[in-house]
Amino acid sequence: MIIEANVSSETNRCQEHLLSLIHGVREKGRTGPYSMAEIKSILTSEIWCADSVKPWVSYKESCYERNSIYKDESIEILCLCWKPGQKSTIHDHVGSNCGVKVLEGVCREKFFTVVNESQLLVRESKKAISYNPGQITLSHPGSVHQLENPGESGLISLHVYSPPLGVMPEYKVT
Ligand SMILES: [Fe+2]
Repeated sequence: MIIEANVSSETNRCQEHLLSLIHGVREKGRTGPYSMAEIKSILTSEIWCADSVKPWVSYKESCYERNSIYKDESIEILCLCWKPGQKSTIHDHVGSNCGVKVLEGVCREKFFTVVNESQLLVRESKKAISYNPGQITLSHPGSVHQLENPGESGLISLHVYSPPLGVMPEYKVT
């Protein structure tokens, strides 16, 4: 479901709030991609909780599910839903700033250093961190990481990318 869709009044309130958040950042006079600080300010809004993104919650058996909440030429906001054990590839963000907020469940982030750029080989660089609901993690464009649901129930996470995410390279551990 994309934000322009015709939806319930509860969802409309959420969408209006989201649009005012985005436009509020824009009114500061900037154009182009959002900074990390702007992404963090969007994620910090109290509007975001498992209830407010309910219209975008859906899971898939084969892989974590990506549900688009909003997208324009500068920013993309997604609700990702992960069943227990589901994980992302090891990836970077192809030039996009990235912010993630956990809304329900637990998210574990692993961090990697590139060993061989042309062969996309990495090694784990530091201890993994687990995030609980309300916690935020930010990734700069060149950062290589992997997210997973280590818990025994569903994980719902909110992801902001600016500019919108391109095709992510898939790294392998050497
Ligand atoms: Fe990522």
